[in-house]
Amino acid sequence: MDFINPLANNYTQAYSNVTPSYLKSLYEETLSTHEHGHLQSSWTQGGFLSFISKMLSPTHILEIGSFIGFSALCLAEGLTDNGELHTIELREEDAKKAQTAFDINPRSKQLYMHVGAAKEIIPTLNKKWDLIFIDADKTSYIDYYNLVLPLLNDKGIIIVDNVLFHGEVLEDSIKGKSAKAIQAFNEHVLSDPSTEQVMLTIRDGLTLIRKK
Ligand SMILES: C[S@@+](CC[C@H](N)C(=O)[O-])C[C@H]1O[C@@H](n2cnc3c(N)ncnc32)[C@H](O)[C@@H]1O
Repeated sequence: MDFINPLANNYTQAYSNVTPSYLKSLYEETLSTHEHGHLQSSWTQGGFLSFISKMLSPTHILEIGSFIGFSALCLAEGLTDNGELHTIELREEDAKKAQTAFDINPRSKQLYMHVGAAKEIIPTLNKKWDLIFIDADKTSYIDYYNLVLPLLNDKGIIIVDNVLFHGEVLEDSIKGKSAKAIQAFNEHVLSDPSTEQVMLTIRDGLTLIRKK
């Protein structure tokens, strides 16, 4: 289900120009040929990630849930010259696709693809992060948040995707497992006195979180 009116989505796409244009063919091909193409960030959301990254100029970026690498490459746009982006993907086939896109990128030496379960990999990375994008299995969002918050630099930002979960969290009675997990996550973040957050109606909902 398209939660945002497709016309509005097309309009935002037409009036935004920050998404790296070299990613257009990867983006379009994934949408039209990949069985799970809908998992990919929208073109405008990719631009938003890119814009935020350019504002922050992060040295260390962590992404949980790479899919085929589109959002990682958008996030990488703001990396400092000595910066690193680490992205984690459970499915080997998608991680391979991301790695192929990374290999031909001018920033290839700054991009690290990790294949496996994020909860196992994150503690092995031994880094403090300036920008974190959480976009993997929804039932683990609270665990991811609790795991990465102590690893977030004081001026860092966490961006969380799908916080409206196709509008299912707006229902009087929330039914699906993932929608319930997202609702619990939204409550969890709101009740954390150590952070502040803003929830945006971009695509499927994005929350931006920083330490107070
Ligand atoms: C919504 S997609 C990511 C989309 C991508 N970030 C983008 O914006 O284009 C979520 C991805 O998380 C991966 N994933 C699911 N569970 C995971 C886990 N436990 N650890 C790492 N990745 C996981 C899925 O295989 C899927 O490719």
